[in-house]
Amino acid sequence: MGIGNAIAQLFAQEGARVVAADIDGHAGAATAKKIQEAGGHCFFRHCDVSEESEVKAVVASGSKEFGQAIDVLLNVVGIAHESPAHLLDLADWERILKVNLTSMFLCSKHVLPGMLAARRGAIVNIASVQGLFGFPSNPHYAASKGGIISLTRQMAREYASQGIRVNCIAPGTVETPMTAQVIARAPNPADLRAAWEKMHPLGRVGRPIDIARGALFLASDESSWVTGQCLVIDGGLSSAVL
Ligand SMILES: NC(=O)c1ccc[n+]([C@@H]2O[C@H](COP(=O)([O-])OP(=O)(O)OC[C@H]3O[C@@H](n4cnc5c(N)ncnc54)[C@H](O)[C@@H]3O)[C@@H](O)[C@H]2O)c1
Repeated sequence: MGIGNAIAQLFAQEGARVVAADIDGHAGAATAKKIQEAGGHCFFRHCDVSEESEVKAVVASGSKEFGQAIDVLLNVVGIAHESPAHLLDLADWERILKVNLTSMFLCSKHVLPGMLAARRGAIVNIASVQGLFGFPSNPHYAASKGGIISLTRQMAREYASQGIRVNCIAPGTVETPMTAQVIARAPNPADLRAAWEKMHPLGRVGRPIDIARGALFLASDESSWVTGQCLVIDGGLSSAVL
């Protein structure tokens, strides 16, 4: 299960009416079906969130479906690709920046008018510890995640006086399809998994629900005096780095 999937399920359990958007139509529809079968409200829209016209259409259909402007935006999308900078193609650099960072600008841009009209809203962006600390082989991913943290701070300042809070989360390694692919490609998957567990002082990698709980806090009124922050949820990884 991905982090977005866990967030959609937790928010629906808490009574949110969820519009889930993903480029993977099969997985997105399955998530929406699971939530509906459990009695929650969720509908799925196929969307490449790095394309402005598609984002605009999803925001409009979400507002129409539920008869109100979107009041909470979770920007979760992210793709990874490994290469040191001197071997990295410009096309891969641009692709990662577009999907990971530009998409969060686009989704925010099209959700904000409704939040500004309502004078309330919460945006939560998923960054990464790779936006805070240096790790090998991911210059474009790290740059996109650092950009998300800066964008979060800037937008928090811009919209605070209008009742809109903007925060982000920097997860450590979380067990999802993204990291499963990295493990599967490793020469010795069991060794890599053990190394990841050891790297996190709490002795395990994260679960998607660990991140979803943080997102719920930042989206809810429980965090009504929190904006412009980066909540690190990493099993203690960054305390060990420091
Ligand atoms: N898994 C980790 O260890 C980890 C750690 C730190 C940060 N993160 C971040 O958490 C977020 C979620 O990661 P995950 O591990 O759940 O990944 P995942 O690969 O499991 O899920 C990512 C989802 O994004 C969708 N997607 C990809 N490109 C898209 C596009 N252009 N438009 C719409 N949807 C698109 C995919 O179909 C997939 O459903 C990402 O931003 C990732 O960078 C993950």
